[in-house]
Amino acid sequence: MRTQVTIIGGGPSGLLLGQLLHRCGIDAVVLERKTRDYVLGRIRAGVLETGFVTLMEEAGVADRLHREGHVHDGTVIACGGESFRIDFTEHTGTPVVVYGQTEATRDLYDAREASGAQTIFEVDDVVIHDADSDAPYVTYSVNGEPRRIDCDFVAGCDGFHGVSRQTIPLDVRKEYEKLYPFGWLGILSETPPVGNELIYSNSERGFALCSMRNENLSRYYIQCSLSESPDDWTDEAFWEELKRRIPPEVAERLITGPSIEKSIAPLRSFVTEPMRWGRLFLCGDAAHIVPPTGAKGLNTAASDVHYLYHGLRQFYETGETEGIDGYSEKALRRIWKAERFSWWFSSMMHRYPDQSEFDLKMQRSDLDYLRDSAAQQKAFAENYVGLPY
Ligand code: APR
Ligand code: PHB
Repeated sequence: MRTQVTIIGGGPSGLLLGQLLHRCGIDAVVLERKTRDYVLGRIRAGVLETGFVTLMEEAGVADRLHREGHVHDGTVIACGGESFRIDFTEHTGTPVVVYGQTEATRDLYDAREASGAQTIFEVDDVVIHDADSDAPYVTYSVNGEPRRIDCDFVAGCDGFHGVSRQTIPLDVRKEYEKLYPFGWLGILSETPPVGNELIYSNSERGFALCSMRNENLSRYYIQCSLSESPDDWTDEAFWEELKRRIPPEVAERLITGPSIEKSIAPLRSFVTEPMRWGRLFLCGDAAHIVPPTGAKGLNTAASDVHYLYHGLRQFYETGETEGIDGYSEKALRRIWKAERFSWWFSSMMHRYPDQSEFDLKMQRSDLDYLRDSAAQQKAFAENYVGLPY
């Protein structure tokens, strides 16, 4: 088989890139390790920056997002029984949209199937060959049958545990990582959200987040230790702990119910450099990970896709390589700013096992400054809604 771009990974990055390329006549084949249903079974965050929404519009898959997504003009920050609101639209003129990543991925799959573009599911043994040549190819197998795709470029959209990043030689690649000494225990419940905006809470018992998917589907998180398992937590225990970590007036109106999903995610900051090696380009989680506090995971994947899409389009339409040659530097410039915001917001909102009294004073002062300063709230808002591409 031959195609112009082989996309490894059928998650949001791979699907969005594939849809954008298809819309401008560039042929791409998506290789996905799992099934569509498995991919759509993953529960992920749901706060979309305007940049992502614009890309979905460019890809022609934003209709349901606009119908069912909820525009949020701000968020609430709570600490020590008090809370304050940060108004994104007042400070930046830009809101965010709350729409489940799973739904965005579903919309992308539906569009890809309708377009007739090829997606190959349940692939194994994916290997990228000759990425540092002008004739790369990918081998893989389906049901034990070996196959090969020859292509012009390979987009590594296969997430943190994929093969693409590992294809870049160790003496070429440099990795940066920070592991956080806690995780997030999250539940999904078919209950009305506790508020019409997200509530991020720093309590002496640890971090909590009140989020949502729609008017009858809520998403809640509490910080937990990495030694815990979801099975350690009954629904009742979760709800009681959540109530202890959010402002009393919020806890009083919280509507609880059975969890339909319960999981623990560790927190990590990670970046690999460069994000390009020859004709291989890394996108999204294959190249970087952020702690979920700033809801930047999907949104940083989106800006990678934006840069790579325009670079590949320029190449095929004009033969120019300025876009693809500048991809890694341009993508990383925005990625590192998202990494900083996600790390800073996580540092301000969580209780760390080794925090000293001084550290706690610094955290409290950070929160007081954010509460009292319009300049700091503007800085928070412009990072949260998304820095320019
Ligand atoms: N071959 C083919 N597919 C693979 C391979 C492989 N060797 N390894 C992983 N995959 C697939 C995974 O099954 C997954 O569907 O690649 C896809 C990667 O998707 P994500 O992990 O969702 O990464 P990405 O598309 O970059 O999306 C980033 O999704 O995971 C969240 O928090 C993340 O919000 C961020 C966004
Ligand atoms: C979520 O709704 O899952 C969510 C929202 C905001 C975050 C993280 C997760 O910062």
